Amino acid sequence: MTASRCKLAPSILSADFARLGEQVREAEQAGADRIHIDVMDGHFVPNISIGVPIVHSLRPVTRLPLEVHLMISEPDRYIEDFVRAGADSLLVHVEGHVHLHRTVQRIRHLGKKAGVVLNPATPVGMLEEILGDVDLVLVMTVNPGFGGQAFIASMVPKIRRVRELIDRGRPGVELEIDGGVDVATLPGALAAGAEVFVAGSAIFGAKEGVSAAMQALQKAALRGT
Ligand code: DX5
Ligand code: ZN
Repeated sequence: MTASRCKLAPSILSADFARLGEQVREAEQAGADRIHIDVMDGHFVPNISIGVPIVHSLRPVTRLPLEVHLMISEPDRYIEDFVRAGADSLLVHVEGHVHLHRTVQRIRHLGKKAGVVLNPATPVGMLEEILGDVDLVLVMTVNPGFGGQAFIASMVPKIRRVRELIDRGRPGVELEIDGGVDVATLPGALAAGAEVFVAGSAIFGAKEGVSAAMQALQKAALRGT
């Protein structure tokens, strides 16, 4: 695996919302692959974050794809709204989602990329029947809901198992991880087969600034190859 497979997806959850446009532009200039937008409803996860208007406001600010991570109950109700606002990909959790296949089809019919997300306790086997219909799999490496949590180390073998499943059945599907990614945890996850890394506090919360933080993550990636 080469370092070029390490794509960074800065999560704006840890950004300074008063300077959001500026911070996203900085991430783009520093080589971000996409912008990760965490939508929480205080129901599916115990926190409330942001929604459609932020996607709409960010659309003219960056050329990067806007990736929307839906941590909400009944995601189907909002898919069209997020697409209209400018989302390029929508990530939905498999947990508690009875009609996941329909949701994924709907996202793709709208011409957008569809991703499925696994919480830490959700088995890899949940992917089997849906893998053929998605563009991306996101493995949560923390329990969703908050930025700044510690990476759950036992997710590394899980990443490896998802990588094997993807390589066996759908080699084009992207494997992304989300939560607790920093210079210490990124190399092991990269070595296990993750290729896209969501990072919030390690990028927007970094004392040294967005650009230096992203460079540090890219440098760390060299240790995982
Ligand atoms: C957590 C979110 C993450 C969050 C990651 O529920 O899905 O995207 O922003 O934050 P860090 O990188 O600080 O763990
Ligand atoms: Zn996220």
